[in-house]
Amino acid sequence: MKDRSRPGPAAAVFELHPSRLLGLIQSVRMVRTVLLFSSVASTNDAAMKYHGGEGALFVAEEQTAGRGRKGRSWRSTVGKSLVVSLVLEPGRAREGLTVLVSLGIARALEGIVPGIGIKWPNDLLVGQRKICGILAEARGDRVVIGIGCNVNEDSRDFPPEIAGGATSLRIASGSYRDRGKILAMIVESFGEVYVRWREEGFAPFRDEVERRLVFTGENVTIDTGSELVGGILRGVTGEGFLRLGTGTEERIFVSGDVTVRREGREPDTGARQG
Ligand code: BTN
Repeated sequence: MKDRSRPGPAAAVFELHPSRLLGLIQSVRMVRTVLLFSSVASTNDAAMKYHGGEGALFVAEEQTAGRGRKGRSWRSTVGKSLVVSLVLEPGRAREGLTVLVSLGIARALEGIVPGIGIKWPNDLLVGQRKICGILAEARGDRVVIGIGCNVNEDSRDFPPEIAGGATSLRIASGSYRDRGKILAMIVESFGEVYVRWREEGFAPFRDEVERRLVFTGENVTIDTGSELVGGILRGVTGEGFLRLGTGTEERIFVSGDVTVRREGREPDTGARQG
């Protein structure tokens, strides 16, 4: 039987070659322009400076200063990761947009790795390990959605400080994947939920997000940047905000970083990359 865990001749087609990438992306309705960089500081920074409109997709083989949330850095592996940013002009209240991106990606990857979890609002997990992170940044009417996805990494590609909390599609599924196809699947899937969200808001996606939400019913701490609040994670609202039971009341959070507290263990974000 063929050993699909080893990079073979087929691995060459997994390069982000411009004409091949364009061929894969051109049928994705959401995308109007593709800007492909062999190396860039950060696709989010490049997209923030771009003056074109919605649907510009920035793709890089390498980021020299990739950024995660809360000022953290984002490490990616040349030739193996996907690092992309998509420019949006949502033209309405933006509630739930980051969680919506998480849902679009989880749906896209479901056929490869079933049961991908959403760690509210911006991390995708396989079990306790992070496979994908999202950085949404707004300026004026524009929102840049940055996506970092581990695709063909082996466990030794991750630096020791994140190796215990990171995984890739290759590790989780046992096979190397075509990054161009994965990218097309992600953007197509996001486009579908985005069109509906623009018309109807987040509410139609609430149940599906709650089914995928990790740490529901568990004791968590949310760090909002200005306070740390502990409680039981109850789910999300119809706007995509986080519901936390704190004793007798329920509190709603628009943004924040969630960590879970489990008996006898250190608080665990379940997501150390970034
Ligand atoms: C996080 O988990 O903290 C978010 C990580 C987002 C990383 C992506 S990679 C493409 C885009 N460019 C960046 O500099 N960051 C985002």
